[in-house]
Amino acid sequence: MNQSNPYKKADRFTEAAKKAGYPARSVYKLEEIDRRARILRRGQSVVDLGAAPGSWSKYVSEKIGEKGRLLAIDRQELRTTLPAWCTFVEADCFELDGAHYTEFGPFDVVLSDMAPNTSGNRFSDQAKSTELFLHAVEVARVHGAPGSSFVGKIFMGEDFPAARAEVRKLYEEERLIRPESTRQISFEIFVIGLRKRAQPLAPGA
Ligand SMILES: C[S@@+](CC[C@H](N)C(=O)[O-])C[C@H]1O[C@@H](n2cnc3c(N)ncnc32)[C@H](O)[C@@H]1O
Repeated sequence: MNQSNPYKKADRFTEAAKKAGYPARSVYKLEEIDRRARILRRGQSVVDLGAAPGSWSKYVSEKIGEKGRLLAIDRQELRTTLPAWCTFVEADCFELDGAHYTEFGPFDVVLSDMAPNTSGNRFSDQAKSTELFLHAVEVARVHGAPGSSFVGKIFMGEDFPAARAEVRKLYEEERLIRPESTRQISFEIFVIGLRKRAQPLAPGA
């Protein structure tokens, strides 16, 4: 493990994830979000964008159980095995055939932990993160069921207020959660949408 990169430094969350059989410490971010916002339940249909190495998907598979369905998408391979009620598609979300969403949706929950490969340039990393976040919001707009939930990661920058406003248009309630396991140096935050509206709010409403 590379101890000079602060994002790769092992901590109590890394150790706990390893012990519990999850491939990444990020599972504790979703676990906290789920505990606070009560997102996941048995039998739900869920899409997980940016699923690799697979901690969120593994957690989701356990929460939704065998009557649920999970579509996990990433341009990289998973480093865990998911149960039979889960499908992994290795693809760039911008190039993915929409038929996958139609086959598995409409979704009760749209999750996105997508993050760009960071360049060290804070402004361009934030811009790429916003692009991924807005793509996830668009998937939720088209394929989220009425009453469904959304969790999306974004690196906070100057576009953040406009990006979160897109979530408010689609959902009755919008919340921000910065989990305890998010590293101190990180600009990430999770925007939560609860109870998707049957009709999005009009611009400026
Ligand atoms: C922080 S990791 C996700 C960790 C995951 N939630 C877990 O718990 O294992 C971010 C992921 O976003 C993926 N990603 C970034 N851009 C993507 C894109 N355009 N399409 C699909 N996946 C993308 C990356 O490949 C990476 O695996």
